[in-house]
Amino acid sequence: MMKSHLEKNFRPKIIVCESEELVDIEAVRTIQQLVLKNLQAVLALPTGNTPIGMYKHLVQLVKNGKLDLSHTTIFNIDEYYPIDPLHPDSFASYMKQHLLDHVSVGAWYIPRSDSENFQEEAVRYQEILNKYQPIDLVVLGIGPGLTCHIGFNEQGSTIDSTVRYIKLSPETIQANTKHLKDPQTIRDGGITMGIADILLAKEIVVIAKSKNKAEGIQRSLEGAVSSDAPASFLQLHPHVTYILDKDAASLLSTDYQKGIIYKTL
Ligand code: PGA
Repeated sequence: MMKSHLEKNFRPKIIVCESEELVDIEAVRTIQQLVLKNLQAVLALPTGNTPIGMYKHLVQLVKNGKLDLSHTTIFNIDEYYPIDPLHPDSFASYMKQHLLDHVSVGAWYIPRSDSENFQEEAVRYQEILNKYQPIDLVVLGIGPGLTCHIGFNEQGSTIDSTVRYIKLSPETIQANTKHLKDPQTIRDGGITMGIADILLAKEIVVIAKSKNKAEGIQRSLEGAVSSDAPASFLQLHPHVTYILDKDAASLLSTDYQKGIIYKTL
């Protein structure tokens, strides 16, 4: 752990976009700038509803010849556990549907959701991740309401948490169930990178859209750093950018809004 990272609070860069699509475009711009500088960049990427548009734009950029991901290494931040990786609701299927079936990447790692033993799987995934740390960029979504989860690091996750199995909160289950293709099969657990793994990255981007994220964004940015709001730990990292739509940014205090960068088309 790079202790120097974690000894004081930093103010992240905050970009507020006029539309949800601009959030996608800004997030892709960050990825593009990184990969143009370093073809072999190592990225940890999210799943969920929020980044679907980001992947659409990313795929378009690659197809238009403006970006080459074929030497990058992609990690997934989390995965349901247990679930058949071929099940349409697995994050492995999500990644194929939104990215990997369309463009080639150098390498791709995701927790094995069909592994017999989640502890062994956590150790295996951690070992691979550690070989690549500090990874270049982590892109995160944030959980619904006041869960403030990042990856599947639910409330109670500690700053030194690493890859592990975690039980999902009722709020997370409820929010995620809406997007399941097979909502009968409710997933209540996952394997996630920990807070410590995320904080080791060189750069972190958080994307959030909609009013449902406003409270969590406000709590994570302006509240105390604590396990009650796992995203608040990002205050301890010097290179964090939040890319938000107007709704997700709507509860930030007037004082906090100073210094925000606004993006319109
Ligand atoms: P969402 O999920 O993009 O579907 O809102 C984000 C998250 O739970 O981290």
